[in-house]
Amino acid sequence: MSGFDRDWLALREPVDLRARDADLLGAAIQSLESASAPTILDIGCGTGSTFRAISPRLRKPAHFRLFDHDQRLLDEARRLHGDAVELIQGDLNEIGELPLTDVNLVTASALFDLCSEQFIRRFVAHVAQRGASLYAALNYDGRIRWSKSHPLDEAVLASFNAHQLSDKGFGFSLGPRAWETLAGSLRENGYTVRTAESPWTMAADHRDLQRLFLDGVVRAIHEYGQLDENEIRDWADFRRKMIDREGSLCQVGHQDIFAIR
Ligand SMILES: C[S@@+](CC[C@H](N)C(=O)[O-])C[C@H]1O[C@@H](n2cnc3c(N)ncnc32)[C@H](O)[C@@H]1O
Repeated sequence: MSGFDRDWLALREPVDLRARDADLLGAAIQSLESASAPTILDIGCGTGSTFRAISPRLRKPAHFRLFDHDQRLLDEARRLHGDAVELIQGDLNEIGELPLTDVNLVTASALFDLCSEQFIRRFVAHVAQRGASLYAALNYDGRIRWSKSHPLDEAVLASFNAHQLSDKGFGFSLGPRAWETLAGSLRENGYTVRTAESPWTMAADHRDLQRLFLDGVVRAIHEYGQLDENEIRDWADFRRKMIDREGSLCQVGHQDIFAIR
């Protein structure tokens, strides 16, 4: 799969942070209270966005282990946070190799919608054996709404969501359905699971993010190949004008999950 651009991750981080459900974030932090020296493993950490969301809210020191396969993103995390975090490069598909020793809480953000059903089930079974809790934020749920509608919106969304099901490095992805499978699998493994909506809201002050997000949607529907090229161009022109001139609002549905045994 292609790597994630650190500038894209940086641009989305403030919107992600605002979108995270405060109750579930609070519950994840609360779950660490009984541990004298909690350890948190953040999988698919990127440059450390979940570390930055959790660490200022912690009431006691915790050890953060950040795990990703992309060395460039880990280098950026090192540049940003020095020795405040432990960094581990590895492939999540090697589930048996995940550094879960002493881990109280596994965290992830914007990760599980990339994953296949088989990966999710194997991952949950493995984490459940070790008894760690899971906080998985910002899983795309298939809903995108624009404040100004266009006749092609529905067809674009259908193509975009279908494209999300391609292989993102974990086998065929569950895309917008991943969060439900993750929640269901956690329940089957004895977890008490809470879910909450965490929609992105991009407004006039997020024009750069909106433009990059739009570019990603257009790339995906081109690749999927079900829509006429001219129609795609008209739709994209309309959307770009809305962003440039009117700063139109765009909402992208996400779901947060917190699970504890
Ligand atoms: C959408 S980004 C999210 C990054 C970060 N959690 C955030 O919210 O900013 C997905 C992350 O998963 C990582 N990733 C994808 N496939 C992986 C794999 N097989 N093993 C380890 N990390 C992986 C990517 O490198 C990327 O950092």
